[in-house]
Amino acid sequence: MPDVIVAKASSFADPGRKVFDVGGNEFGVFKLGGEFYAWENRCPHLDGPACQGKILPCSTEAVNDDKTSRGREFSKTDMNVVCPWHGFEFDIRTGRHPTNNAVRLRAVKMRVEGDDIVVSLRD
Ligand code: FES
Repeated sequence: MPDVIVAKASSFADPGRKVFDVGGNEFGVFKLGGEFYAWENRCPHLDGPACQGKILPCSTEAVNDDKTSRGREFSKTDMNVVCPWHGFEFDIRTGRHPTNNAVRLRAVKMRVEGDDIVVSLRD
């Protein structure tokens, strides 16, 4: 399949996301921290529409120098998308599940040319 222009980069919020269906290829394009990422809209759990879920800040445990916990914090820069079917979370930058590296979204080849978001889809 040839490369396809799917959107204007300037039309995205940050963080933001748009989901597309091009010739039966469903995928999400995300903007985070000024960068773009594209993932198939297919959850590795049970094929749910993972890219259409809520975008939420990643949570981490803040640890003091003496290794005691200060509790949970929400990241100001890292975000997950949460699959709407059963709640699996995926890092928008890496596509990875936060605790299981074997569970991840599949990348879609994408680039930004000027103000165009261009994707290269499989046949
Ligand atoms: S299909 Fe996505 S969490 Fe189950």
